[in-house]
Amino acid sequence: MRGGDTVSSMTVEDQDPTATRGTDGIASRAGAAAAAGSGSGATGATGGAGTAGGAGPTAAGTRSGAPSAAGGRPTGDLERYAGLFAQRTRVMKSSAMRDLMALTERPEVISLAGGLADTTLFPAEDLAKVLSHMAAGDSARALQYAPTEGMAEIRPCLAEVMAAEGTIVDPDDILVTTGGQQVIDLVCKTLVDPGDVIVAEAPTYPGAVPTFSAYEADLVQVEMDDDGMRIDVLEETLDRLEAEGRRPKFIYTIPTFQNPGGVTMSLERRHALVRIAQERQILVLEDNPYGLLRYEGDPLPTLLSLDGGRFVIYAGTLSKILSPGIRVGWALAPAPVRQKMVIGKAGSDLNSSSMSQLFVAYYFRERDWRDYVRHQSAVYQARRDVMLEALERHMPDGTTWTRPKGGLFVWLTLPDYLDTTDLLARALQHNVAFVPGRGAFLDGRGGNSMRINFSGVGEDDIREGISRIGSVIAEQLELYASIAGTARPRGGSTRSGTKDARTPDAPHDSSIVPLRTAGRRRGTA
Ligand SMILES: Cc1ncc(COP(=O)(O)O)c(C=O)c1O
Repeated sequence: MRGGDTVSSMTVEDQDPTATRGTDGIASRAGAAAAAGSGSGATGATGGAGTAGGAGPTAAGTRSGAPSAAGGRPTGDLERYAGLFAQRTRVMKSSAMRDLMALTERPEVISLAGGLADTTLFPAEDLAKVLSHMAAGDSARALQYAPTEGMAEIRPCLAEVMAAEGTIVDPDDILVTTGGQQVIDLVCKTLVDPGDVIVAEAPTYPGAVPTFSAYEADLVQVEMDDDGMRIDVLEETLDRLEAEGRRPKFIYTIPTFQNPGGVTMSLERRHALVRIAQERQILVLEDNPYGLLRYEGDPLPTLLSLDGGRFVIYAGTLSKILSPGIRVGWALAPAPVRQKMVIGKAGSDLNSSSMSQLFVAYYFRERDWRDYVRHQSAVYQARRDVMLEALERHMPDGTTWTRPKGGLFVWLTLPDYLDTTDLLARALQHNVAFVPGRGAFLDGRGGNSMRINFSGVGEDDIREGISRIGSVIAEQLELYASIAGTARPRGGSTRSGTKDARTPDAPHDSSIVPLRTAGRRRGTA
């Protein structure tokens, strides 16, 4: 595989069918904005999956005050406002996950599309007690503004979380944010001008895609394998960009239990990435929501700890180990970058919720947060095992999947003539949902892959959900085989990730570079 095949380099505008180049004015913007507001157009690559309208960040009509019909769909008079939209709305993309939310919220749907911590595991009486103690002890402060950088009592808690993974930081250096998502946003706000390059993994976190596109970044995605981002491909990519006179603003990576890939960057590659960042003086954004949700193996050092905080910016969050509802995340960054991020944050929300921050401080004081992480990990590990078993049982030949040692996701790759966006429509008819892989790319790749989550639903639902997805895939494979006039290939070898299940006459999308998966063979998956 040539290096050039393994990366993509296109501006988000290049990707967006709704973007109209070179023309200004109401008419051209109206088209793009109307499409953006409609969800399905805005998702571009996610195509038919994007139907949630107002649920997505591109519901520009709703945001700008345009009236919307029930369910958040923009109404016909959107054009009235279209001339007011900023240029960037032409290239803004909605998140594949958010688009799916409205569909998957139907109670009859088994959703393997989420990326949710199972908050039913948190004891309601603990929440009630800690909140009442907080109200009794600190009501006025809980109801008041707080410093933009974060409240003094929460920072040691967040430093404690990092120490549990072996990363020692000074609590004073922590910038408290509104979730890890805000860190991604603030880093972009601080560093990215339109057209600037961000390097990310292929596939990358689907929720970062709308942020990168809102800042009009040029996303360059680097192939992964079982050991995370391929450093050889990264180096080729950086060389190529340098030859073009383009220096990436940062490399975005989720090294541990990657979302959506489920893979973890090896120690050797962590060292190599940090060395590259230091030698080439390129910033790295290490996003680490899942590091403490480890079900096997030994913890690996964070990039931040290997780098000492010179070139690595770190994003943490309590969303996956405590609660996404409290919206507490944090960042560490070299001081000059951090100062700009603080100014950027003040412009966004002044400060993160005082109530949430105090809740965390009280919770850490009164309960053992590690206990809860252990409890969740045990539950998620069991669910992961059920999912892996179900995949072995129900996936047709020709499919491969990753075997995560932690985190919340499995990445499933199908024969490359199948399209998971189309498949989702069929899956929803069978009341099961997943995230189509295209949402994790900005270049149209990922069409034959999907992200499936094992933390958000119970074991029986996982079994049933995987069985339904397996049937839908099998149905499509049969259909394909009958159209192509060949019998569907059979045999265990196709599970080995060799992709020899391709139907002979099937179109082959050579731009798709699947993960080389851990779920290759029975027994060793
Ligand atoms: C890799 C990654 N980064 C950031 C986030 C955002 O998390 P939050 O804003 O809830 O902290 C998520 C959530 O799924 C994620 O998976």
